[in-house]
Amino acid sequence: MYSERLSIVVIGSINVDLVIETPRVPLAGESLIGYSLEQFLGGKGSNQAISLKRLGGDVIFSGKTGNDAFGNYAVDNLREEGLDTSYIFTDNKSATGIAFIIVEPSGENRIIAIPGANGKYGIAETNSMEAVIHGSSLVLLQLEIPLHSIKRISNIAKENNIPVLIDAGPAQAAPLELFNGATIVSPNESEALALTNIMVNDISSAKNAARILLNSGARNVVMKLGANGALIANDSDFRHVPAYDIEPVDTTAAGDAFTAALALKYAQGASIDEAVSFANAAGALTALKKGARPSLPYKKDIEAFITEDHPRRTAWI
Ligand code: RIB
Repeated sequence: MYSERLSIVVIGSINVDLVIETPRVPLAGESLIGYSLEQFLGGKGSNQAISLKRLGGDVIFSGKTGNDAFGNYAVDNLREEGLDTSYIFTDNKSATGIAFIIVEPSGENRIIAIPGANGKYGIAETNSMEAVIHGSSLVLLQLEIPLHSIKRISNIAKENNIPVLIDAGPAQAAPLELFNGATIVSPNESEALALTNIMVNDISSAKNAARILLNSGARNVVMKLGANGALIANDSDFRHVPAYDIEPVDTTAAGDAFTAALALKYAQGASIDEAVSFANAAGALTALKKGARPSLPYKKDIEAFITEDHPRRTAWI
């Protein structure tokens, strides 16, 4: 059972995000004048670790950077957030991961990530985290480091009865046996499509995709549906949780804040439904600000947002 003294272990990617704001996405062969270019710390692993820390979680984060200026920038940012950087490994032969992010006025983003050193988080790093994993309350993973490392980490956790939450981003056709025995698997619509070949565009297709993920041996699926909320699926049934009715500024890292909040509440002993309700608010608040790291909410922000009683979207859009 959960103990306040146990840490949540996050093992995942570290990127430097180069964010371009543009009036629209250029057509093929077109040159377009954009609005701005900014640099932020990102990567689904570091976003989720920072989120957990800001929500008051006891978190240990492990990832890998290159031996370069972006790597130093990333480690400095993680330190500023109060994270222990002793489990951040350095690869002398690869560059730090970079993500190019295009944001349109609607707040929608498009991301291309170049993994670099994230792709070198291998068995040596995984083995060196084994004792830390043994002492954790929950292990939180994403799909931005090699899948064989994810499999090994989640096996270590499962053998020790430690819950495993796998954020199924970024979208890729990963083998579904990766999720066998995971406590929670959490994809968004495009990740669900890549994994199940089902285009999620209504409740019924969301349920069909979730069924396939449950059949892979995952115990619970929490599908992030953006403006359409979230779908919780497990053996017993399906529950749809409507989204908050907000005007997004930049949806980058909204899914990361959602997953981190879900992990924290679940590790603290909340039911999946309670955890998703808290996570929904975390995701909404993140979409109201630009960038990954700057937009991740603090515990007090979410608590205030929840008490403000914001309206929900009722219809599927
Ligand atoms: O989930 C958002 C993140 O995805 C960005 O920070 C980017 O680095 C990519 O990993």
